[in-house]
Amino acid sequence: MNDSIILGIESSCDDTSAAIIKGNRILSNIAANQAVHKEYGGVVPELASRAHQQNIIPVVEKSITKANIQQNAISAIGFTRGPGLLGSLLVGTSFAKSLAMSLDVPLIEVNHLQAHILAHFIEDANPMPPKFPFLCLTVSGGHTMIVLVKDYFDMEIIGKTTDDAAGEAFDKIGKIFDLDYPAGPIIDRLAKEGNPDAFQFNKPKLGNYDYSFSGIKTSVLYFIQKEVRKNPDFIKENLYDLCASVQKAIIEILMNKLEKASKELGIKEVAIAGGVSANSALRKAMQDHEERSGWNIYIPKFEYTTDNAAMIAMVAQLKFEKGEFTDLRTTATAKYDL
Ligand code: KG4
Ligand code: ZN
Repeated sequence: MNDSIILGIESSCDDTSAAIIKGNRILSNIAANQAVHKEYGGVVPELASRAHQQNIIPVVEKSITKANIQQNAISAIGFTRGPGLLGSLLVGTSFAKSLAMSLDVPLIEVNHLQAHILAHFIEDANPMPPKFPFLCLTVSGGHTMIVLVKDYFDMEIIGKTTDDAAGEAFDKIGKIFDLDYPAGPIIDRLAKEGNPDAFQFNKPKLGNYDYSFSGIKTSVLYFIQKEVRKNPDFIKENLYDLCASVQKAIIEILMNKLEKASKELGIKEVAIAGGVSANSALRKAMQDHEERSGWNIYIPKFEYTTDNAAMIAMVAQLKFEKGEFTDLRTTATAKYDL
């Protein structure tokens, strides 16, 4: 890989992030989280756009300072074109276009989902990068899918959720438990103190490699409503066990299909990506398979799991090598296939 220096910009949801990459080595990876959404229990798109606009220049400036480079060392600008919230994407896209024009460097569009997967090729993401073909369970707040990765830019979705994403299930169930948004990391933390076998929840029975998470959410809701009628303090008294049981159920659903795909396709190179890949029970389940099923597993370094610009810069670097540039008339896109 060449050692060009590229700036990556990510603004697809509620994190404004900028990163500088040299070759596949990250020199800086800065993010500003938006606390403004907490009190609403979810991301409010208009507030997200406004916060991106506020954050983007300080975040980009900080990424350049931290990387200890001069602005004129930047060879290209990579940005998230989609998928995501349109208003949020527009802020990053407009800024990336303007900066590319003023620095007179190429502009490179990046698919956010490809970036979650290709984050595995960042130098310090893994001890070793995955070998093609590999399976990547891509699990975030907006997406849940099993991707067959044949090459950097040759990916096939072999299974996906038919309703909620896994991260969304964590967040919505967390809301039932009266936890803050995003509840995924909170459930992960509380689950450590609980008994994962305390409660059983319905699991979907879908064929093929597809997922469904709306059933478990409803099952938790009805169960909680029933118990709270009998004991108003039920949630408080059982919070650790509830979190551990919900987490166990979600991770089992995720792993069963991944295991099925690995067996049926005969692929033992198995990776996880996206915000939910930060989950400690999912990481543990992957490690178990490494021993039990002989998988070579790839779990990205924590800071490359949730939304970040390092992964955007990584994809931009791969496209820069191929000379795949984007016209300055480009626009953001809320939907963007792999
Ligand atoms: O990839 P990401 O940062 O943003 C999207 O592209 O959606 O993923 C965010 C999602 C949220 O739903 C959040 O609750 C979940 O990832 N998440 C977790 C954990 N950390 C983040 N879910 C379970 N356990 C975690 N430790
Ligand atoms: Zn994401």
